[in-house]
Amino acid sequence: MKFSHKLMDNNFTNQDISAVIKLLKKKDRIFTQSKNVAKFEKSWSKWLGVKYSVFVNSGSSANLISITILKILRGKGEIIVPSLTWVSDISSVLQNNLSPIFVDINPKNLCMSEEQIKRKITKKTKAVFLSHIQGFKGLSRNLITFLKKRKIMLIEDVCESHGATFNNKKLGTFGEMSNFSFYYAHHMSTIEGGMICTNNKKIYHLAQMLRSHGMTREISDKKIQNLTAKKYPKLSPKFIFLHPAYNFRNNEIGAVIGLSQLKKLNSNNQIRKKNLITFLSNLDDNSYRTDFNVKGSCNYAFPLILKKANLKNRNKLEFILKLNNIEFRRGNAGGGNQLRQPYLKEYLKKNNLKNFKEVEHIHFYGYYIGNYPSLNSKKILKICSILNSIKYVF
Ligand SMILES: Cc1ncc(COP(=O)(O)O)c(C=O)c1O
Repeated sequence: MKFSHKLMDNNFTNQDISAVIKLLKKKDRIFTQSKNVAKFEKSWSKWLGVKYSVFVNSGSSANLISITILKILRGKGEIIVPSLTWVSDISSVLQNNLSPIFVDINPKNLCMSEEQIKRKITKKTKAVFLSHIQGFKGLSRNLITFLKKRKIMLIEDVCESHGATFNNKKLGTFGEMSNFSFYYAHHMSTIEGGMICTNNKKIYHLAQMLRSHGMTREISDKKIQNLTAKKYPKLSPKFIFLHPAYNFRNNEIGAVIGLSQLKKLNSNNQIRKKNLITFLSNLDDNSYRTDFNVKGSCNYAFPLILKKANLKNRNKLEFILKLNNIEFRRGNAGGGNQLRQPYLKEYLKKNNLKNFKEVEHIHFYGYYIGNYPSLNSKKILKICSILNSIKYVF
């Protein structure tokens, strides 16, 4: 059989499918957001170690709701964002008329440069929207204390790093809010889906409302529902729209898949962690970067980053990857330097790319390939041997 390596092997099991069939066969055919969504939110909160979670239809929706909440709570201002992340981490800031302030990355974890975050904070800074890139942690004790002291909100995007830890505590429990994605390619999937997590009740209620048209009846606390009904006596209590919002709800099918997938998330993550170590320790460190800070990491993809900035080497690598049917993405998270994307052309005028050396390297010479539980070490070694056999120019 021809060799091939996909970005993700079949992420759904027979147990997941059985759970869906069981739901579909129920007499009471409620498939829109209901009991299973609430059950999944509770189970997810328990797994993560937070008080509240709100299940939405994507990680991007989780991003947009979080930044909308930030704007409601803190008003207009600047948000420090990564240059290497997914588009929705930046578009959510723009869509809320907040100003994104870009920082370069740390090559050891591909996350925001702590030194640049600190340097770019001004009186206008409302939050740092930090993405934990491809399973690596982007936090330090120093940064957390620094932000706390200045009352700057930390929002964690953990869409690519379910189960990764910092000081033995899961990522997504450090910020005021955190976001997860359950898209097919990630550590676990609900087909499409996302989660907003928090320990703050006010944020929780805002997320419940914003997910569903801004309606107060969506708040799980009946007392608050009654209070708002009293405040607006001329409105039907079932139709009080407190904020201009969205319909970002998920559904019962996504929730039962989520509940089923969650059962094996920890054991799958153990395999993913082991796979990464096997990959990095067998990759030729003359050609590729292998010196990542892997402590606490939990990757769903292997970082494959050329050491030397050389376009000929890049062409060779892409040729060999294609020849061996190894699926890849260039630019690591989100296709590389966001500042180079057309939607940010106005911001490129204000940001000199010379100050973004690390993300620029990733943009042109950084890749990721798949890391999933069904991948065995024999196959990882085969991939490494293919990659190590490429004759690069030095
Ligand atoms: C860091 C990050 N944030 C947000 C998202 C958006 O998640 P979704 O694809 O579920 O909208 C992604 C998607 O891969 C991501 O990598």
